[in-house]
Amino acid sequence: MSEQPRRARTSGKPYRRPKKDPVRILAFEALRAVDERDAYANLVLPPLLRKARENGDFDARDAALATELVYGTLRRQGTYDAVLASCVDRPLGEVDPPVLDVLSLGAHQLLGTRIPTHAAVSATVELARVVLGDGRAKFVNAVLRKVAQHDLDGWLERVAPPYDEDPEDHLSVVHSHPRWVVSALWDSLGGGRAGIEELLRADNDRPEVTLVARPGRATAEELLDEDAAVPGRWSPYAVRLTEGGEPGAIAAVRDGRAGVQDEGSQLVAIALAGAPLDGPDRRWLDGCAGPGGKAALLGALAAERGALLVASEKQTHRAGLVAKALDGNPGPYQVIAADGTRPAWRPGSFDRVLVDVPCTGLGALRRRPEARWRRRPEDLEGFAPLQRGLLRTALESVRVGGVVGYATCSPHLAETRAVVADVLKQHPDTDLVDARPLLPGVPDLGEGPDVQLWPHLHGTDAMYLALIRRTG
Ligand SMILES: C[S@@+](CC[C@H](N)C(=O)[O-])C[C@H]1O[C@@H](n2cnc3c(N)ncnc32)[C@H](O)[C@@H]1O
Repeated sequence: MSEQPRRARTSGKPYRRPKKDPVRILAFEALRAVDERDAYANLVLPPLLRKARENGDFDARDAALATELVYGTLRRQGTYDAVLASCVDRPLGEVDPPVLDVLSLGAHQLLGTRIPTHAAVSATVELARVVLGDGRAKFVNAVLRKVAQHDLDGWLERVAPPYDEDPEDHLSVVHSHPRWVVSALWDSLGGGRAGIEELLRADNDRPEVTLVARPGRATAEELLDEDAAVPGRWSPYAVRLTEGGEPGAIAAVRDGRAGVQDEGSQLVAIALAGAPLDGPDRRWLDGCAGPGGKAALLGALAAERGALLVASEKQTHRAGLVAKALDGNPGPYQVIAADGTRPAWRPGSFDRVLVDVPCTGLGALRRRPEARWRRRPEDLEGFAPLQRGLLRTALESVRVGGVVGYATCSPHLAETRAVVADVLKQHPDTDLVDARPLLPGVPDLGEGPDVQLWPHLHGTDAMYLALIRRTG
């Protein structure tokens, strides 16, 4: 299966502004933006949906269908490309990108939704007529009729290489992940076929919306009054909205007393705050704080102990987001815009330090449907020096006896254990702290002392955390 983006960057003819079927037209516009402008679906879609609702074109069901069409098409792109490649008589790279977007949308309706076959084909051909013109609509019709000849399982039998011949290629096509990502996730997860398949399947599910009730500011009980709200699985501050909904409409979220935060991120802050310390526990640092999710929880936990949180972030506009997230924090805090590898603070001046470093984000593929196709193995080399530099500085910033948390939202071993091992080799005055007892009740945390969370085992993003104590 191809690892490269299948689409050329230039689009074909401009399309006429359409009138009919606003749901599919909006889905097409969102896919074009993701494809042409490298936009993020989770940023492009909400304003398009808002506008459609304001214009009276959409109701809530339309918005749900448009979201499903865009996210599903992007997530399943690898599988659909394999199917389309066997229905089109030239390489997919030679198909005009807008045409390919319409074909993918059609393939998703046919193979990934319950939309009846005739409706999926006719609605997509109609979309093609409006946005591509009559000539190309005929081509779309011919291709989709071929796609409609089999269901998804039937196609996978035909286009996925047999598992026994090449397990990673097979999983790559069946579960729509680039082969190198399958390989990296499997290296980190270990085990046999069942586990990796569950993980890849979980990456293709829509994640639930999880809220955090920031301690001292809101309670989980209060959030449980919301529609279809249930307690979190692991974090005492978490509440899950099982039917999604609009978190922005919840008063506590609007006021910043609560926020939207994956439970994995909550567990990272909880474990760092809970690590046993001898001596003072007054000064905490979040060295990579933007946009401020973990800082807001750490700030609230620090406040319970009368500790100060310093939240530092390199990018000024993201430091602004951190300030917003911490606004109203019940205890003392400071937000600074600073490069975490050139600290603006004295060495050894903190009791607890978090560095949640920039990474490939391979642990949060559920949230960013296009991310898996954009990332390249070379990105790892780009992040490697920064990840090591930030961890080194964190170790220099903590006092003897203090604790550093090194976190990533990627389970890739090159971003997790390899970084920790390399840096600790140069810092013999450190010990790894077993993080597992700090997350009581959370199963399957690995062999320790670090912890790796997984979407299929914990329902969280695949967050990694190593806790390191400075001993001398
Ligand atoms: C994974 S994000 C942190 C997410 C954050 N902890 C949260 O929970 O909201 C990594 C952050 O590190 C910032 N960053 C990148 N290079 C940095 C540096 N040299 N020093 C400090 N922060 C940096 C990025 O701008 C980004 O905001």
